Amino acid sequence: MEITIIHGQGHKGSTYHITTMIKERLIDKKTKVHEYFMPKDAPGFCVGCFQCMEKGEEYCPQADKVQNIVESMLSSEIIIIDSPTYCLEMTGQLKTLFDHLGYMWLSHRPKEEMFSKTGIVLSTAAGIGANRVTKTIKKQMSWWGIPKIYRIHFNVNAASWKDVPEKIKGKITQKVNEVSENIEDDIGKDKFNIKIRLLFNIMRKMQQSNTWNMTDRSYWEEKNWLKTARPWR
Ligand SMILES: Cc1cc2nc3c(=O)[nH]c(=O)nc-3n(C[C@H](O)[C@H](O)[C@H](O)COP(=O)(O)O)c2cc1C
Repeated sequence: MEITIIHGQGHKGSTYHITTMIKERLIDKKTKVHEYFMPKDAPGFCVGCFQCMEKGEEYCPQADKVQNIVESMLSSEIIIIDSPTYCLEMTGQLKTLFDHLGYMWLSHRPKEEMFSKTGIVLSTAAGIGANRVTKTIKKQMSWWGIPKIYRIHFNVNAASWKDVPEKIKGKITQKVNEVSENIEDDIGKDKFNIKIRLLFNIMRKMQQSNTWNMTDRSYWEEKNWLKTARPWR
């Protein structure tokens, strides 16, 4: 099994610690882990050149860094993305990565591999906002077609992991155990998500009348998605 972990931060605080707890629960000696830290492994800001959307993702000026991460995600069964809560949102460096992945949204050229994956999203805040951050990260991953996404969010009442109260650490351990058990049950099984399938079908209708972006349209045609084929089993 392979797992990709994308940390929305470069430091090893509360968010990193919780992600590591879940990683330790899910991996064994055979697991290949691809781990990325933002901004060290992040591409630079999107410059709005539209090359990825209009010509192909390989034409992005930041393609090397972006595609390195995309390849890891495509070969992984599980994708974990975390971010501390900054001003009620995800970190800017993580959003920068997401901006580079718009070309593989359901509305453009979704990757069929995504339709069988499990996602995990984590965030911590001192007092407010972690729930909302996991929702927005989940939204990004849903638009890539991932059918099953777990959210773990905690308001930890602290600026660093060592100051997180024991009572909260206990609740975190409980949640990590619960999510890991569910994921162990999920692995290898088909995942049905009605919302993703409905959205795919709406986008399919849009692509059938697409006269504005031939790169997207040809992609859907090559996959035979405008006719009978679908990206899920
Ligand atoms: C720039 C910045 C913005 C923050 N914004 C919020 C916030 O909106 N709400 C909140 O409750 N905590 C906020 N915090 C606190 C962190 O979210 C919180 O301490 C979190 O657990 C840190 O995670 P980490 O240890 O993984 O860095 C902020 C911290 C920083 C540095």
